[in-house]
Amino acid sequence: MKILGIESSCDETAAAVVTDEREVLSNVIYSQIAEHKKFGGVVPEIAARAHLEKIDVVVKKALSDADISLNEVDAIAGTCGPGLIGGVIVGATFAKTLAFAANKPFLAINHIEAHALSVRITENVDFPYLLILASGGHCQICVVHDWNKFQILGTTKDDSIGESFDKVSKLLGFGYPGGPIIEKIYHESDSEKFSLPHPLCVQGNCDFSFAGLKTAVLNASKTCESEQDKKDLAASFQKTAAEVLAFKMKEALKVCAQQKIEIRSAVIAGGVAANMIIRKYLTEVCKKFSVEFLAPPIKFCTDNGAMIAWAGIEKFSHGEISPLDFFPTPRWPLGGIPISKK
Ligand code: KG4
Ligand code: ZN
Repeated sequence: MKILGIESSCDETAAAVVTDEREVLSNVIYSQIAEHKKFGGVVPEIAARAHLEKIDVVVKKALSDADISLNEVDAIAGTCGPGLIGGVIVGATFAKTLAFAANKPFLAINHIEAHALSVRITENVDFPYLLILASGGHCQICVVHDWNKFQILGTTKDDSIGESFDKVSKLLGFGYPGGPIIEKIYHESDSEKFSLPHPLCVQGNCDFSFAGLKTAVLNASKTCESEQDKKDLAASFQKTAAEVLAFKMKEALKVCAQQKIEIRSAVIAGGVAANMIIRKYLTEVCKKFSVEFLAPPIKFCTDNGAMIAWAGIEKFSHGEISPLDFFPTPRWPLGGIPISKK
């Protein structure tokens, strides 16, 4: 089975062809970072227009890299939410139109579910597994019981973790996107210099809060006297963020043990999963609990078409398809019913 996946929910226009044998035949990503950089974050209207300009080229390249024609794919999967509505409309409409024109089944994909399953593109991970979903738009910890069954243990009360990386980088003057920039700075700075709060890090609590941590960075930034001070502050934030995620993974593993959910693997996915410092902290927690730690390859952490195609494979192989009048849905919780679905 070969599925074409199309992604356009934020600032990456992406398409990929993936098989049910875990072969990624192509994975084309056009990143809009250059378009948004000067504004210090994603501008929804610019994103939607850029998706519209690039989507046909990206999809064509995904098919030609995979060396197949549209007729040879078994179904077409498209992100239908959650995300920035302009971009979601572009990708979902493109995917539905292709499906209609080529007379192929259409699969409406939830972007966060695709992140949640992305580790399975390369690893045959058994359900249930524990998942930290850490992206620019979301921060949740849940048990993935099955391809379509998610038990949420905790969620952010304010900002997502990716957003906090981006905002901290912006307020310290290091630019966008914050995650990879701060990760790089960490290696050339003193992460012990500033002592920052660990919000909501109390036993048994799996929720997140990052707004207070960001404010603490803002307040501490007023004491910075040099560029190196600012770098040390960014590094201290990076370390604290990793410690918070490690704490939350530990608490979630304890909750799973109490609820007798047999967890053999703990996974981080989403853009922030690309962060090697966070991965190192989580690896240590998993060792203590004798649980296998897994994360998708970096190219499948940040937004990509392969994870949409793979989520399509999970759906299609369970006999599900979506109607062509499926609504692009800006708010669509993990495992939930799309709010605007007819
Ligand atoms: O999953 P993603 O590509 O888009 C959403 O679905 O939101 O995540 C983007 C987020 C951004 O906030 C970006 O700063 C963060 O992922 N990110 C990272 C790293 N690479 C991307 N955060 C920390 N470390 C990284 N290396
Ligand atoms: Zn994403």
